[in-house]
Amino acid sequence: MDDHSPTFSRRNFLITSAAAATAIGARPELALAGDSSTAPISEAGQSTARVTLNVNGQKHTLELDTRTTLLDALREHLHLTGTKKGCDHGQCGACTVLVEGRRINSCLTLAVMHQADKVTTIEGLGNPGQMHPLQAAFVKHDGYQCGYCTPGQICSAVGMLDEVQRGVPSHVSADLVARPLLSVDELRERMSGNICRCGAYSNIVEAITEVAGGAA
Ligand code: FES
Ligand code: FES
Repeated sequence: MDDHSPTFSRRNFLITSAAAATAIGARPELALAGDSSTAPISEAGQSTARVTLNVNGQKHTLELDTRTTLLDALREHLHLTGTKKGCDHGQCGACTVLVEGRRINSCLTLAVMHQADKVTTIEGLGNPGQMHPLQAAFVKHDGYQCGYCTPGQICSAVGMLDEVQRGVPSHVSADLVARPLLSVDELRERMSGNICRCGAYSNIVEAITEVAGGAA
């Protein structure tokens, strides 16, 4: 468009742009106007959404900032603090939970992505009076020191054993088609996303191996 056009000069363009920017600054929802798929924006300028999570067999409906991770929803909103926050960047595995039976890093996924999904945390696996076999094995084999990584290790091990049952190969599986055997190498590879700063690895391997029915 010609800047010198009598009907739309550069000056008019800048005035119009400035007015629009001012309006959006005062009311950020205008920036999203016309996109009916966007979530409502609160007075604080946050985009919020209502999400129903099915955690450990109980449904919880939460009004969340859409940027809330599943980890923060569990810990900060549902007060299920068994799931730990380590790195918050998908590198340590402390936040591992099961979603629809699959292990995931809950710090790397948004709560709003799990509407109605079945989420299982360490609290849902067992309790001191009725422990999950892996919880009992970790106690028996002293599979922890400080215990910070332990909920993630156990949830990850539950998901890992299910993967083995389903025949999912790992990076060290020699045969990608045959059902994998849970050797120590396989176990270590499959649990490599769960870091233990205390270095309780050998005892963790023993605990998981016992539950898997093999020999470490
Ligand atoms: Fe999620 Fe470290 S806290 S991977
Ligand atoms: Fe301390 Fe694993 S037991 S980090």
